[in-house]
Amino acid sequence: MGTGRGKRRLLKITSFDATGHKVTTGHCLFNCTKDTSKMASKYFDLTGDIVEFTRAHCPIVLSAVVGGVGLYFLRRYFAGGLCRSPARLDGKTVIITGANTGIGKETARDLAARGARVILACRDLTKAKTAAAEIRKSTGNGNIVIEQLDLASLASVRTFATIINEREPNVNILVNNAGVMMCPQWKTEDGFEMQFGTNHLGHFLLTNLLLDKLKKSAPSRVVIVSARLYDGGKINFDDINAERSYSPFGAYCQSKLANVLFMRELAQRLEGTGVTANALHPGVMNTELGRHVFTTYGWRALLMAPVVAIYYLFWKSVKQGAQTTIHLAVDKELETTSGLYFSDCMPCDLYPVGKDEATAKRLWQLSEEMVGLKE
Ligand SMILES: NC(=O)c1ccc[n+]([C@@H]2O[C@H](COP(=O)([O-])OP(=O)(O)OC[C@H]3O[C@@H](n4cnc5c(N)ncnc54)[C@H](OP(=O)(O)O)[C@@H]3O)[C@@H](O)[C@H]2O)c1
Repeated sequence: MGTGRGKRRLLKITSFDATGHKVTTGHCLFNCTKDTSKMASKYFDLTGDIVEFTRAHCPIVLSAVVGGVGLYFLRRYFAGGLCRSPARLDGKTVIITGANTGIGKETARDLAARGARVILACRDLTKAKTAAAEIRKSTGNGNIVIEQLDLASLASVRTFATIINEREPNVNILVNNAGVMMCPQWKTEDGFEMQFGTNHLGHFLLTNLLLDKLKKSAPSRVVIVSARLYDGGKINFDDINAERSYSPFGAYCQSKLANVLFMRELAQRLEGTGVTANALHPGVMNTELGRHVFTTYGWRALLMAPVVAIYYLFWKSVKQGAQTTIHLAVDKELETTSGLYFSDCMPCDLYPVGKDEATAKRLWQLSEEMVGLKE
């Protein structure tokens, strides 16, 4: 901007009346320096250039504008629903697994802002400390607690549950969020295939060990973060730990199907207790979930680049991805809703594989044996 003193000019502001005649609608004082005159002429040159370019390349400009607007609305569509509930959680205690990053952290932030005591159940305590400090600062809620939980270790799950059962008078909301995806053929501490062991068995044991506390704290809720890919899964009872044949993708789908079947059977078993159980698909977003893909597939992971690029157009933000979890955790209208699967804050029909009662019961029995709830 020019700073020198220039001539002060009175500028007329004109427009056109209904008959098309020029009329003066106001005046303004304009301090016209050399610099501002230069800027103005540059501005008019540029505007002229833009108009000229638009005229010359009309179809391209039009397609770009229509494409841009279309993309904007598509992204808004794929952003999904928002949790609009104003519910407060003062005096309530919430446990969120895998709350040091991604969807879990955003969920923790939201529930903390509603006044809850939030227990971040995390494996990596350094990351958890950073997340807790960030959540305390952004919400003003100091009641954020960190507790160590490694879902890939039954001993860790048992220690965590003992601490919670002894220390916490109530647990009102349990969010089973933590997850691992498409890792190499790793095993948990107890020798289970890593994705089934962490995503399903660890949460299965945790939930069962906290059930008495949840019932005592009723009305209370169990929220299970699954994924739309559950419908590509199959519970491979003959080779549950994928020892004969391992597919990183297949094992992820199996674990997410197990989340849904666990929710269905749990909801039935909890009928009449005041504890609800629901599962959800959060949408697709860019979190740390894909962290093992390069270790698993090496350079072949690059072949997925075009798919990832298309997905990128429709990715939700992590905050948007946490909305369905938050909705299930807090919405007052869902106080007695149980046994359902949600996406974009709305209940959805399950594919047949997710409604298979016989498989759900068989999985429950097998899980009980695997985690040692039934010796
Ligand atoms: N992102 C998506 O597009 C998407 C789509 C569908 C479903 N989901 C589901 O959403 C959930 C959250 O995923 P995200 O996208 O937020 O992924 P993320 O950013 O990778 O977060 C996963 C969380 O799980 C924790 N975790 C992993 N293994 C654990 C273990 N053994 N014990 C305790 N915690 C463990 C991680 O902790 P560390 O940092 O310590 O490893 C991390 O806090 C998962 O269940 C996932 O399957 C995500």
